Amino acid sequence: MLRIAVITLATLCCLPVARAGQTRQPIPVARDADPFAPVYVLTAPEHARYLRGTAKILSTRTDRAGRRVSLLEMQQHQVDDLSTEIHAREDRCGGFFAFATRAEAEQFLVADQTAAVMAGKYGVFDDPLAIDNGALIAPTLAQVDAQHMANMIWMLSEHYPNRYFASVNGTNSALAIRDYWRALAAGRRDISTEMVGCGNCGVQSSVVLTIRGTRWPDEIVVLGAHLDSISNVVLPDGERDAPGADDDASGIAVLTDVLRIAMANGWRPQRTVKLMGYAAEEVGLRGSRAIAQQYAAEGRKVVGVLQLDMTNYKTGSLDMRLVTDYSSPVMQQYLVGLFDTYLAPLGHTRGTITCGYACSDHASWTQYGFPSAFMFEPAAGTTSLSDDFPYIHTPNDTLANMGLSTAPSVAFVRLGLAFMGELGEVRTPVTLPLPSTRK
Ligand code: BES
Ligand code: ZN
Repeated sequence: MLRIAVITLATLCCLPVARAGQTRQPIPVARDADPFAPVYVLTAPEHARYLRGTAKILSTRTDRAGRRVSLLEMQQHQVDDLSTEIHAREDRCGGFFAFATRAEAEQFLVADQTAAVMAGKYGVFDDPLAIDNGALIAPTLAQVDAQHMANMIWMLSEHYPNRYFASVNGTNSALAIRDYWRALAAGRRDISTEMVGCGNCGVQSSVVLTIRGTRWPDEIVVLGAHLDSISNVVLPDGERDAPGADDDASGIAVLTDVLRIAMANGWRPQRTVKLMGYAAEEVGLRGSRAIAQQYAAEGRKVVGVLQLDMTNYKTGSLDMRLVTDYSSPVMQQYLVGLFDTYLAPLGHTRGTITCGYACSDHASWTQYGFPSAFMFEPAAGTTSLSDDFPYIHTPNDTLANMGLSTAPSVAFVRLGLAFMGELGEVRTPVTLPLPSTRK
């Protein structure tokens, strides 16, 4: 299983290095998506008011999880306004799902598995308590490279300071991530990378790196983060500057360091492991939903999904918080087990938090009946969102505003290694409920 991989220096030195005091040149953003294209949005009924009657309410009903939800028809440019208004009026972000057609939105409501997953219906791997691969994992936990992560966050936030899904940088940043991951995996014929477009992802594609499983290749373990960014602040020139260093260049940097370490240690997991950089999360979880939808339609066996979205802001004593809604209790329990086995002995501490809405890509997997969970950054040691990163969705979401440090993300790389090193290595195959049996 262990094979010593040779990572050349060339693969590790192609990122610009973070330097204190260096100022960023905003890059002009050209929008390639039609701002007047129709978009069908599922959201809380009160959000319709935020657009002052300019969005058409097609229906309001109770979804399968018992929540009231409205289906709104609007234009693409109004999706940004909706995000901005929710932020301004509720002093928080607010989740919504966005679709290219009304039929897709309707179908989504019909297929919604969130209530079943949250009730623990799909605990789909063989033995959630089998955490016993310390011989493989433990030596890697000291190999996390904070500077490597700083370089990736710097590249994304400073060189692509707006990764909005419909922008040139939105496309180019995804390609840059693909190229970097590909370089880290150079020489591995069992690893491939692909760009996965989606019907309403504009010019942006999700990036998927696949390590083909040596023993159970049709069983899939996913580690994901979103690669797009958004700003709710319109600059005087009408542009938006969205460095997204914490949200979510940090998650991409964590995935990248997990990959670097896995390659350096010659990991060849028995299950197929996929790293995913999702497109268009900030405009309604579009990239991840398209992938989850496709995997459900194809009856793929996704045994577990870890979402990493915002890992690099820390104000209190905790190191990370488990998000306890819109995810699988079985997978949550598994993450807790991994944490207590591998991170707690290193002095790391954890808490919990609820988003209250479908706040990130883990919710897309949950919607389609896959076991998914989300570990989020800590703030002030509380269980509320009120102490959270103040610069989310603003031009100030920069590495400089996080002290030019990636120390808070180190624990997340360790969790990612534990997740990949345990769930990717399995002794027996699982029996999964097929999509056709998910009612
Ligand atoms: N990283 C945020 C989600 C988040 C924010 C989680 C604060 C926990 C605490 C994510 O990128 C985001 O902004 N999501 C949107 C929802 C999406 C469906 C448009 C949001 O929260 O508004
Ligand atoms: Zn995010």
